[in-house]
Parts: sequence; structure tokens; C-alpha cells
Amino acid sequence: MRYLTFALAKGRLAKKTLGYLEQIGITCEEMKDPDTRKLIFTNEELKLRFFLAKAGDVPTYVEYGAADIGVVGKDTIMEEGRDNLYEVLDLGFGKCRMCVCGPESAREVLQKNEIIRVASKYPNIAKDYFFTKKNQTVEVVKLNGSVELAPIVDLSDVIVDIVETGTTLKENGLGVLEEICPLSCRMVVNRVSLKMEQERIMKIVNDLKKLIYEV
Ligand code: PRP
Repeated sequence: MRYLTFALAKGRLAKKTLGYLEQIGITCEEMKDPDTRKLIFTNEELKLRFFLAKAGDVPTYVEYGAADIGVVGKDTIMEEGRDNLYEVLDLGFGKCRMCVCGPESAREVLQKNEIIRVASKYPNIAKDYFFTKKNQTVEVVKLNGSVELAPIVDLSDVIVDIVETGTTLKENGLGVLEEICPLSCRMVVNRVSLKMEQERIMKIVNDLKKLIYEV
């Protein structure tokens, strides 16, 4: 039997995913050592391997088949736009929304169909939303974090970003102006892996489905 390899997006999503996997009998003791500098962990008995990666790299590992299964946010999947990935499960946590946000004064600017500047960690999602869905020409500026700063210091008119509780926006005098789509944590599978290892992979997917949705 060959190894099935999981790529998990580092952080909260990985923690929650490992908790779910444990509940369906998939454990990885090696991974629990907080001081370890190891990058890849193995469950020899089940022939499974796990590694943590930066969220944006998870779809890449899965597209190339370096990982069979990836667990990452829908935001990252949309932004990376990789082929060869098959989204098999909505894990139901990490729920948030992709939104256009800004100061109330930007609401009017948005409606005028003028060329505005949009700052985002998600330039592809921002472009797709404005160019394809809204038919509006905008200038997209890529940032790497704390995007809420951009409209405050006049780098941009609005931002495209994730809103979870809305606290960050509120504390910075900003709000949601338009909603792009809902987001949550998803499981993706390499298309070839799904064909070759269908039984093993679908067993994991179905066990998780039962656990999460009680179906
Ligand atoms: C995310 C997102 C928002 C914030 C939204 O940022 O980019 O800034 O969380 O959460 P809230 O609606 O509950 O306030 P993250 O914490 O990942 O940091 P970053 O902006 O530096 O990437």
C-alpha cells in the first residue's frame, strides 16, 4: 500500500482538522510534539503522511500530486485557481465571508463605476469580482496583511478581504460594502489520486461527512 499524503494549511485550520481526523480514527502522535522541527509526520500503520504548509502553497502541493489531499480555506483555493484539484468536502468550520470593505464614503464611489483602487491579499479574487462579475475596471494593489490599513491611509478606496466577526473593520471605522461569497475550510484532492486511491480517500471523506453532518 502506498502512502496517502495530506497537506494541511498551518494554524487554526490544521488544528481543527487534526481534531476531526482523530475522531475518525486517524491519529498522528508524532505531530503532537510542540517542540519538533520535523516537517513531515507519518502514521506507519495506516500508511498516511501529513505535513503543514503555508495556506497558499497547499493547492500547489495538491495540484502537482506531492500531496494527495489538501485542507485549506476556500479563499486560498479561489485565489490560487489551480487545476487538477477536486473539492470533495466542506469541513464546515473557518466560516467567514469575502467582502468588499471600506469607509461608508466609498459606497457612493463604488456605485459610480469609476476607476477605483482596491487593495487586497487576494488580487485574483478582487480582479475576478470587479472585472468579470461587475464589469468594472479597477486598479488592484496587492498587500500581504493588515489590509484594513489601506483605505485609512488612502492607499486605496476599498479593500477585498475576509470578514469573520467584523471586529477588525469596526475598530478601524470601516464596514462591509458588498459581499462577494461565503468561505469555509475545504478538503481538496488531486484528480489522479482520487482515481487511483478512490476507495481509501472516499472512506476518509465519508467518515468526516458522517462526523460533521451526522449523515
Ligand atoms: C484576517 C482578515 C481580517 C481579519 C478579519 O486577518 O484579513 O483582517 O482576519 O477577522 P474579523 O472580522 O474577525 O476581525 P488575519 O488575522 O489573518 O491577519 P492579516 O490581515 O495580517 O493577514
